[in-house]
Amino acid sequence: MSSSDPRSEATRDAGAVPRHIAFIMDGNGRWAESRGLPRAAGHGQGAETLRAITRRAVERGVEEVTCYALSTENLLRRPPDEVDGLMELLRLYLARDRSEIDELGVQLRFIGRRHELPANVQADLETAERQSAGHNRMILRLAINYGSRSELVDAARAIAEACQRGELDPRDIDESHIAGHLYDPSMRDPDLLIRTAGEERISNFLLWQISYSELYFAPCAWPDFGPERLDEAIDAYCRRRRKYGGIVSPEVRSAPRDR
Ligand code: FPP
Repeated sequence: MSSSDPRSEATRDAGAVPRHIAFIMDGNGRWAESRGLPRAAGHGQGAETLRAITRRAVERGVEEVTCYALSTENLLRRPPDEVDGLMELLRLYLARDRSEIDELGVQLRFIGRRHELPANVQADLETAERQSAGHNRMILRLAINYGSRSELVDAARAIAEACQRGELDPRDIDESHIAGHLYDPSMRDPDLLIRTAGEERISNFLLWQISYSELYFAPCAWPDFGPERLDEAIDAYCRRRRKYGGIVSPEVRSAPRDR
């Protein structure tokens, strides 16, 4: 495959690659501390990894990528300096990488309790979404001030309010109503969830949406999770058979592709 021809590569792999990959980008702090650097340096390097992974995901023909950039717990439990630094990094990332996002055709979306974020960050998120709304090669969704239980609570409240207004009968509530009230109702369920830095837990990320996702845990810290690591994870995914609770896989992936 020629790395200069991402479109033909994406076409060749179509049907094999996961359509939606979710990432828990863990280990920035440890990456920095192990090098005697401030934790902020780990987050900066993590943002570089996010750029490289976005590019590679587009090349591989992935349709959606959702990254856990900042959990609600991160915001509450980290020193204010670190949280402020992450907010600034996010704003810098959005401003600095605008042209790359345009060039790649990536549509940006944000999920989480964004109304609780500082006003300037909220404004930047809205601008980034508006400016990239016409892009259609891949959706890059960043979860910021996100917690999956909060998302489900917010959905339950919205559904209860609809019932209170007489628009919905509680007996008619089904899975589609829950899914339809999540932060991004158009999000398809992730096919693959990748967590870096050797931790094997979900940490309140997309609990509803990952019911049938394949899980992949990479030992390296997020800043070391380069494009070749993404390829390894995709290859591992392609070798798995998904069952969706049944006996026969609806999408049989019996043999690994040539990469
Ligand atoms: C977890 O590592 C990572 C985060 C809390 C932040 C993730 C942010 C990035 C990858 C940078 C890109 C983000 C933006 C906002 C564009 P950790 O600090 O918990 O690492 P540790 O577990 O080793 O301490």
